[in-house]
Amino acid sequence: MSGSRLEPRHTADGSFSLFSRDVGEGFHSGLGALSEARAKFVIPAQLDRWSPGSTLQVLDVCVGTGCNTAALLEACNARGLKLNWWGLELDPEPIALALADPGFCSQWEPETLPQLAEMSSGPQMLWGDARSQLPQLLNSQRGRFDLILMDAFSPSRCPQLWTVEFLSGLATLLLPSGRLLTYCSAAAIRRSLRLAGLEIASICAPSGLLKQTNDWSGGTAASPSSLEGATQLRPLSPMEEEHLVTNAAEPYRDPSGHSDRATILRERQRAQAAAMAAGGVEATGGWRRRWGLSSSNHQ
Ligand SMILES: C[S@@+](CC[C@H](N)C(=O)[O-])C[C@H]1O[C@@H](n2cnc3c(N)ncnc32)[C@H](O)[C@@H]1O
Repeated sequence: MSGSRLEPRHTADGSFSLFSRDVGEGFHSGLGALSEARAKFVIPAQLDRWSPGSTLQVLDVCVGTGCNTAALLEACNARGLKLNWWGLELDPEPIALALADPGFCSQWEPETLPQLAEMSSGPQMLWGDARSQLPQLLNSQRGRFDLILMDAFSPSRCPQLWTVEFLSGLATLLLPSGRLLTYCSAAAIRRSLRLAGLEIASICAPSGLLKQTNDWSGGTAASPSSLEGATQLRPLSPMEEEHLVTNAAEPYRDPSGHSDRATILRERQRAQAAAMAAGGVEATGGWRRRWGLSSSNHQ
């Protein structure tokens, strides 16, 4: 592994992030890694659901630099909540780079970094392809998680972790009151979360964190239970609901559990073409025009 394939970046709020040359994508929105962690993961977790002294079981999917976990840790420390933390990550380099970066280290309260370092080097940090580590969690931790922070690279860059099979596995890890939180509001992902039996809601993010005027949502929350009335979440708008019956909502699939990116993308394109040929599915371009959206990154 060469260090240059991961370039340190400082995002608009001054917080540390990385850009992956291999993937061609940043780890966080350029608008702010820490702001994004708080708005899209910590706030929609709604930590006031637990009383001080409670222990939350949390899974960080794609730990990366550890920014989401550190932001959650800090918010939990402030409320007297403890974490039974688990992590999934392929590459140890992002967290090593973060922990060696003075800017990243200065972002946090003094007690946060040792906790992050301990968790990310402990036995519940599961290194490797998240798909190959998931069965271990399914065997021992099914139905036990309060929170799952899902922060893989975007579906078109890393479809392996956005398939209906992988998301269904994550869904079975949740407690009935548990929540899966993700920055992603792509139609295929929302449809897959519903296929996994979860209720979904849109995350309300501050407008400063939406990348384009076309970004209508701060992400997606999903739970086995209703999310109605949850703070910082709202039901999908009619526009968002209609998005889920367009061609963009065709799920990514990986029945073998180890297909590569190209195969997953190719099979999805094939399924999209077949669905269009059979009729009954609207082309996403038509939906976009109907709602006055010029372009979209929500394919
Ligand atoms: C968008 S970044 C995660 C950002 C992270 N949550 C943070 O706060 O820094 C995506 C991460 O997914 C990891 N990754 C990519 N493919 C993976 C796989 N198949 N299994 C597990 N992790 C993977 C990358 O190494 C990268 O750290």
